[in-house]
Amino acid sequence: MADLPDGDPTRGKKIFIQKCGQCHVAEKGKGHKQGPNLYNLVGRKTGSAEGFDYTDANKSKGITWSRETLNIYLENPKKYIPGTKMIFAGIKKKQERADVIAYLESSKD
Ligand code: HEC
Repeated sequence: MADLPDGDPTRGKKIFIQKCGQCHVAEKGKGHKQGPNLYNLVGRKTGSAEGFDYTDANKSKGITWSRETLNIYLENPKKYIPGTKMIFAGIKKKQERADVIAYLESSKD
């Protein structure tokens, strides 16, 4: 993607633990916290982590999570999914978004 720099998954994991770790894990076999487990997120549809009680807003967004959609979402979650129960202001720094996305891309089978 033209305007998203290359991400570093190692840095992304640290940022993920700091900013998202209160509500999410992204590791195989771990449960949901306040937010769904984000393992294998990239390539799946919104609202499809098994056993997590999503809002209709999140479930019916109907897009597939990718670098592009995560970049938009993570900058301002409430703008991309109005009505989400994810209380998170967003990551304003492009490089940090790229790093977190690289980490999420690496958390898969
Ligand atoms: C205060 C808790 C909280 C924080 C912090 C948080 N989230 Fe969430 N997140 C949630 C909740 C709750 C949902 C479910 C939203 C819904 O159903 O409306 C969610 C949903 C999501 C989804 C959609 C998942 C799906 O299967 O469609 C993604 C992607 C996501 N979060 C990524 C992140 C990332 C990356 C961070 C850190 C940069 C983060 N979240 C920080 C609570 C949080």
